[in-house]
Amino acid sequence: MPSLGILSCHSVRRGNPLSQPGLFRQYCEVGRRVGLDVFVFSPRDIDWRRGRIAGYVWKGGRWQRAPFPFPDLVMDCCRCLGTEEMRRTRVALRALRRHGVRLLGVALPGKWPVYRRLVGTAAARWLPETVLYAGWASVEPLLARHGRAVIKPSVGTSGAGVLLLERFGGGLRIRGRTMRNGVFYRVFSRARDAAAFLDRWTAGRRFVVQQGINLLQWDGRVADVRAFVQKNAAGAWELVAAGGRVGPRDSATSNLHGGGQGVPLAALLKPLDPAERARIQAELRELALTVARAVEQAFGPLFELGLDVGIDGDGRLWLLEVNSKPGRALYARIGDRAGARAVVENPIRYAARLCHR
Ligand SMILES: Nc1ncnc2c1ncn2[C@@H]1O[C@H](COP(=O)(O)OP(=O)(O)O)[C@@H](O)[C@H]1O
Ligand SMILES: [Mg+2]
Repeated sequence: MPSLGILSCHSVRRGNPLSQPGLFRQYCEVGRRVGLDVFVFSPRDIDWRRGRIAGYVWKGGRWQRAPFPFPDLVMDCCRCLGTEEMRRTRVALRALRRHGVRLLGVALPGKWPVYRRLVGTAAARWLPETVLYAGWASVEPLLARHGRAVIKPSVGTSGAGVLLLERFGGGLRIRGRTMRNGVFYRVFSRARDAAAFLDRWTAGRRFVVQQGINLLQWDGRVADVRAFVQKNAAGAWELVAAGGRVGPRDSATSNLHGGGQGVPLAALLKPLDPAERARIQAELRELALTVARAVEQAFGPLFELGLDVGIDGDGRLWLLEVNSKPGRALYARIGDRAGARAVVENPIRYAARLCHR
């Protein structure tokens, strides 16, 4: 039977690579149904000299440790951004490839390089204007053109470090999240002070400045859409699930890990008239497929992406962010059982297709 290795980070706390045990258990179960041996491992479980891996497999209702030869296919499911474990998985992936193992999924290099690669593609029409942060001179033109701007870490997650800048009286209002995702609010009456503050905020890290989107509101709170696009069992990109995320009151970010809440897409779009709703749904699908193809072309073989899509007051769609290791909790939370099941099954069905051909 062909085999699929799920490469995950070694969790120091757990002492094993089962960083997403619920998901990985389901991967093993789906694997059994589609004729694929699925096991989970971290770089530490690889015995390079003997060409074997001490993997973890869900069997008989529990996790069991068992030795495996190098698998046919390895799926990169490491989500420990910017850590030593992340570096180890990068090294392990390269070495596995040298051993003839086929790899699936790449960790995207950050918001700035992804934006740069998408600019010249068919996905460009959904990109908010974005520049690399380089002091007030990089912020001011975007603020002037769009009335608001967002500053966010090129490599980041959960909305941490994201600031929304808006003109406020003669000054500037800044709302957002600290690096530890605490709520942040401040008003500056002088640009000079705001500029000095932003230099401190961004010190030592790469940040992008983005055209601020006047995001659709839901119950007076900012909302956006998480679209889950995957390769299906036929090997074609498909928009598998989409749901709304609504930030806490007064929050500039909608991320679930920042206290956001899921809402069905239909509920989010309900205030719009039916023709507009249908147009947005169709355009969302077009955006998802176009972006997935463009990202794959630029960065290598993928099996899924989570796209953060903003809808503005005029009904325009904007690609806010591309996530290469998207969480999938949203769909169960909004009661989309078919979507929640599909986002788990597709990667394994697609992997099986690759192995059986
Ligand atoms: N250009 C923007 N305009 C308005 N809001 C934005 C913009 N970019 C991001 N946001 C808000 O901040 C959230 C987090 O930004 P995102 O780019 O997805 O970074 P992260 O990696 O932290 O999730 C988004 O889900 C959205 O609610
Ligand atoms: Mg995001």
